[in-house]
Amino acid sequence: MKKRTLIQALGLAALASASGLSLAQQQPFKIGLILPMTGQQATTGRQIEAATRLWIAQNGDTVAGRKVQVILKDDTSLPDVTRRLAQELVVNDKVDVLAGMGITPSAMSVGPIATQSKTPLVVMAAATSSITEASPYIVRTSFTLPQASVALADWAPKNGLKTVVTLVSDYGPGLDAEKFFKDRFLFNGGKVPETLRVPMRNPDFAPFLQKVRDLKPDALFVFVPSGAGAAVMKQFLERGMDKAGIRLIGTGDVTDDDQLNDMGDGALGVVTSHHYSAAHPSAANKKFVEAFEKANKGLRPNFMAVGGYDGMRVIYEALKKTNGKGGGDALLAGMKGQLFESPRGPMFIDAQTRDVVQNIYLRKVEKKNGQLYNVEFDVIKDVKDPGKSR
Ligand code: DHB
Repeated sequence: MKKRTLIQALGLAALASASGLSLAQQQPFKIGLILPMTGQQATTGRQIEAATRLWIAQNGDTVAGRKVQVILKDDTSLPDVTRRLAQELVVNDKVDVLAGMGITPSAMSVGPIATQSKTPLVVMAAATSSITEASPYIVRTSFTLPQASVALADWAPKNGLKTVVTLVSDYGPGLDAEKFFKDRFLFNGGKVPETLRVPMRNPDFAPFLQKVRDLKPDALFVFVPSGAGAAVMKQFLERGMDKAGIRLIGTGDVTDDDQLNDMGDGALGVVTSHHYSAAHPSAANKKFVEAFEKANKGLRPNFMAVGGYDGMRVIYEALKKTNGKGGGDALLAGMKGQLFESPRGPMFIDAQTRDVVQNIYLRKVEKKNGQLYNVEFDVIKDVKDPGKSR
């Protein structure tokens, strides 16, 4: 150390101890937020970024004496880019927490970095069950596909749907959705004549939907990632599948609040299961939706936004519990076991699995005040990820 910098450092240290804060605590608390801001999953990035901004606007940018700084990076939803950005954020920016993760491959690629650097990684979007097993430093505030899919597999046979064909995006969350829907539906006495998988990148649904039309099941169960639902809906309707007596059901990713209102009346009556609807009837959600729309030119928050908003809460509360000190292990301990009311309803970070325990709602697309919404009509309370009990 040069003499001057040493003297400066000593001066800072004296100041710091006078104010009761350690040197580290005078540094900003850095959150490295990696999201797909461009490319195929850009709506996920836009929703989560808006939600984190809203959280900070409502809760301030100082927590337990620490200034909070969010460093946003665009990974374009390419996992190699996510990994490189995470490495840079940890090594160069010395972030206290990593967050975001628009898709499963991104979250998986960062797992080893979180472990090696002991940096908590708050997964706000990605939803394959096994993600939380990729590092003991991962905490999830989104949902899991098994959580959402099992609920629908219980609902379907009680509502006249005896044969269902599944159509999923061919990667982690899609394979989870297919497996957990199918196993439970078969267990409940249903039949699954075909399981179809469509490429995750630039999917063409047409040939798959043609096949479904020929098979003529009672319903088609769909999982596609956020942003792809409108294309599925459009082609489903264009092919007259609904008129041919095939019902569309799926996880709430299909009737995504980000796109639902533009899907048209053909979407009316579609039943899905999910952890969040912008129409969730609680005071906390009404406040969240109004504030989000106001801050974002009328953009309706979707389930990605709520994952980002709650992720910020989990980080803020953990930092408070360390009295502003931070530190990877202390923050992680502060994240585990958090229980609070989210705009989605009650939610809990299971200390054992670091995964989210939450209500799963059955919803039907209905018109409310001239707009399409996922209106909740039933709830399965406090659902743990069924993928964890394997
Ligand atoms: C994942 C991505 C999505 O957009 C979604 O709706 C669900 C899961 C994922 O890659 O894990």
